[in-house]
Amino acid sequence: MAASLSTEGLQQEFDRLVADDQRIEPRDWMPDDYRKTLVRQIAQHAHSEIIGMQPEGNWITRAPSLRRKAILMAKVQDEAGHGLYLYCAAETLGVDRGELIDLLHSGRQKYSSIFNYPTLTWADVGAIGWLVDGAAITNQIPLCRCSYGPYARAMVRVCKEESFHQRQGYELLYALTHGTDAQRAMAQDAVNRWWWPSLMMFGPPDTESTHTAQSMAWRIKRFSNDELRQRFVDMTVPQAEVLGVTLPDPVLRWNEDRRHYDFGECDWDELRRVVSGEGPCNRQRMEHHIAAHDEGAWVREAAAAYAAKHAAVDAAA
Ligand code: 3HC
Repeated sequence: MAASLSTEGLQQEFDRLVADDQRIEPRDWMPDDYRKTLVRQIAQHAHSEIIGMQPEGNWITRAPSLRRKAILMAKVQDEAGHGLYLYCAAETLGVDRGELIDLLHSGRQKYSSIFNYPTLTWADVGAIGWLVDGAAITNQIPLCRCSYGPYARAMVRVCKEESFHQRQGYELLYALTHGTDAQRAMAQDAVNRWWWPSLMMFGPPDTESTHTAQSMAWRIKRFSNDELRQRFVDMTVPQAEVLGVTLPDPVLRWNEDRRHYDFGECDWDELRRVVSGEGPCNRQRMEHHIAAHDEGAWVREAAAAYAAKHAAVDAAA
């Protein structure tokens, strides 16, 4: 098909597949900008999953019980798996994982702002599960219907695991808010610190979002940043009531006319600062990632040597 159609015909076929809600697959022709947008978003997403292992990994050795430790280890390992599916999805677009990691290390690709905040107490593990993974699911469920097949399929599995992550965070916080006064205070403090950064995860407001309009036209994104932020607030406020925590927003209230919660404005300057490298933990996160990558060089070399040896054996057979 690709060889026999003009660029105009290929574009029409691509537009038809997108309009019919079918999937674009790696073998299909796609516009260069569609490919670039996907590489940018999927790589950023993959980097986020891997860097996101750091804030919670910080608490594995200090989890308060064997049960909590086992749950947290499983969750952090899931994040590694998500990173792997996503790097594989990006590779179907003709880029190489090593190249993407170099772009991250040189600051030419990003990862989510949220992972630049510190995990100061055990309750932060609960707040991350409940709020950060809750925000991640809200953003990622529509990505299961993304027009690019490998990304959409990776998201199905990721979302199933993210729901377990969200539930474990909620259950952890529930235990704290139904514990001692000190535990309740620790849970509230964590929620106070993670609420606004979680809302900022959805990206800049629609009026300042550079990619939303085009990504929605291509059906990579199904909803805008503000629509998903609102959806997250609507879902989370009743859960906060059950947990018995307050959300740190004085203007948060139900709006009967809109049938949604009204909520305050995020500090967009803070988001800009964190994304541009000036968040509380940006430097620490990158240094750790670079050190882990360098220390793992021998593993990659061994795996490549093993693959080459078996390829040679297969070729000779
Ligand atoms: N952190 C860092 N950068 C962000 C950001 C954030 N929270 N939100 C937006 N940006 C960047 C964009 O990448 C873009 O940068 P660029 O123009 O230099 O490339 C710029 O800010 C403008 O934002 P847009 O709204 O125009 O960008 P998008 O259309 O790409 O929307 C997004 C941003 C909603 C985050 C979208 O990329 C997306 O849905 N990505 C997939 C999901 C994802 O990456 N989630 C990250 C968290 S992963 C996670 O939470 C793991 C879990 O286990 C907790």
